[in-house]
Amino acid sequence: MKVAVVGLGTMGAGIAQISITAGHDTVGREVTTELADRGRATIERYLGRAVEKERMSAEERDAALGRLSLTTDVADLAECELVVEAIVEELDAKRELFAELDRITRPDAVLATNTSALSVSEIAEATEHPERVVGMHFFNPAPVLPLVEIVRARRSSDVAVNVAYQWAERGGKRPIRCNDTPGFVVNRILIPLLNDCVRVLDEADVSPEDLDTAMTNGAGWPMGPCALVDLVGIDVHVHASEALHGKLGEPRMAPPERLLEMQRAGDLGRKTGRGFYTY
Ligand SMILES: NC(=O)c1ccc[n+]([C@@H]2O[C@H](COP(=O)([O-])OP(=O)(O)OC[C@H]3O[C@@H](n4cnc5c(N)ncnc54)[C@H](O)[C@@H]3O)[C@@H](O)[C@H]2O)c1
Repeated sequence: MKVAVVGLGTMGAGIAQISITAGHDTVGREVTTELADRGRATIERYLGRAVEKERMSAEERDAALGRLSLTTDVADLAECELVVEAIVEELDAKRELFAELDRITRPDAVLATNTSALSVSEIAEATEHPERVVGMHFFNPAPVLPLVEIVRARRSSDVAVNVAYQWAERGGKRPIRCNDTPGFVVNRILIPLLNDCVRVLDEADVSPEDLDTAMTNGAGWPMGPCALVDLVGIDVHVHASEALHGKLGEPRMAPPERLLEMQRAGDLGRKTGRGFYTY
């Protein structure tokens, strides 16, 4: 299958890596050649590590990288059968891109968005053919985490949903189907739950270490909530909380004050070397 990934940042590079590793010729589109090259370098680094760990041979890596082409021109996506969008999380930018993709791609192409917090239906409605638009919500890091939420927007066709589902499954992922509701499945549940965990730190006067110990040993979580928020990034979690709270309005969905303070202090978790823990 000929695939395109639009935006080769954190998520897009990972999705392109999944695509080329699964054997698809893949076009990566970025806004500049420098950013496109940076996306390719990220993929090369990850595949290099896979070779070192003997999860892939050097020949397989080279073959996979040979399937990746880069462009800054949307017109180069015309022949793709599946386009996965992973650009900035802004409705206007995504709507503009989907309107353009709808005009230039072949009529049977499926157009998928990796949005976490926007409405897939609102993105789809910028096109003349909303039936071919779906959500494909990957989790970070996309090549590592198996789940992909295949999101059925108001007017998505069964064909488009099935194409996205089967593509994810053949790429070694574990897809599920769901409706286009705020937070879809995992974030709808996990964001308020993690916010509760952070509030309990102050309410119960418990340390991050003890809270993580409580949830790993008492609830069987594979990772403690503070370690998880540090991994996700305090800013990313706060943004997702604000988006969910803005849509559903439950007080638990609003980011706790402690996280807002950490964000203001620049303690964003692993990526800045400091969050609940020091790295
Ligand atoms: N980071 C996460 O944990 C995560 C998880 C799931 C979903 N998402 C979603 O994935 C999308 C991308 O997030 P990210 O974290 O990878 O962002 P990012 O900022 O790392 O990457 C976005 C990339 O898109 C490029 N871009 C912007 N406009 C473009 C355009 N018109 N055409 C081509 N490229 C364009 C930017 O240059 C940038 O490299 C967002 O919708 C986000 O909500 C993110």
